[in-house]
Amino acid sequence: MNKIKILEVGPRDGFQNLKQMLTTEQKLSVIDGLVNAGLKSIEITSFVSPKAIPQMADAQVVAEECLRRYPEVELWGLVPNLRGATNAWNAGIRNISCILSVSETHNRANIRRSREETLAEISRIREEYPEANLCIGLATVFGCPYEGILPMDEIVSFVGRIRSIGVYDINLADTVGLGDPKLVRQTIRCLKEAFPDCRWQVHIHDTRNMGMVNTLAAVESGVDVVQSGLGGLGGCPFAPGASGNTATEDLVFMLERMGYDTGVDFSRLMEVSRYQKSFIDGIYSGHHLNIDPSVVCTGGAV
Ligand code: COA
Ligand code: ZN
Repeated sequence: MNKIKILEVGPRDGFQNLKQMLTTEQKLSVIDGLVNAGLKSIEITSFVSPKAIPQMADAQVVAEECLRRYPEVELWGLVPNLRGATNAWNAGIRNISCILSVSETHNRANIRRSREETLAEISRIREEYPEANLCIGLATVFGCPYEGILPMDEIVSFVGRIRSIGVYDINLADTVGLGDPKLVRQTIRCLKEAFPDCRWQVHIHDTRNMGMVNTLAAVESGVDVVQSGLGGLGGCPFAPGASGNTATEDLVFMLERMGYDTGVDFSRLMEVSRYQKSFIDGIYSGHHLNIDPSVVCTGGAV
């Protein structure tokens, strides 16, 4: 059976865009439920400026508590700069996700730096923390709200720069859900051909209801690490039109039905989804919430 690793980003991407402030306890309870459902890779927070994202001001506490509770889980922290990486490292986080956009305009809107400055900053993080497991979350690969779809040769040459600073794990992000399955397949094929020594992930927003098909296109192109968010929450606060992630519930259901092994227990995942929904105001992508689980268990109607 093909294994697919789901990297759950709800506690970071899902929560960062909420208007309501969650308590640290609420966040930790959701993470508890995710671990209980079998998720083994979770992006639990981001070490960013609390002025930019007040929701993540408790990053250190969340990280330290999760490290204490779940030594067996791969815990990720997102960082925008060296300062964030230092805070993550000092809190004990060893899996660090750096943000960088292929679009100059989005990079400036998101982290107020040019792409070159951000590349140089990530290079310093690489040098400062050679033992960290570094991944670059490459935003707007499948389209930018400011610059549209970027030319493939520009993307390939930019990825070449990333590789030259010694980062081989790259998370291809559809930040505002502009991609389509054909573009996803083409982009992954080109990048895999150009950089056979890199490892790829995808992170696809469901803005236009294309999250599932685009993620599936990536899986069928050989990507075996996919990111998603519980309840389809999420979005970049600095990208106009950004909305939720591909919902983990939908993704697990689809992949398991197709015979992929995600290692996630669907009914436990629904338990934590129901719990999370109980305190989230606003849009919640809960396609499975109103369905009698026995319909699924018995095979349902054909
Ligand atoms: N963690 C905590 N505080 C930080 C920080 C970090 N990683 N980086 C900077 N700061 C603080 C600085 O100390 C400074 O504080 P002060 O005003 O009290 O002195 C303040 O933030 C501004 O610092 P500066 O270096 O001038 O940053 P900036 O204002 O140009 O903002 C970022 C740049 C990247 C730090 C900020 O925009 C940010 O954190 N953005 C978050 C982006 C994000 O998470 N997007 C969604 C995910 S894709
Ligand atoms: Zn995202």
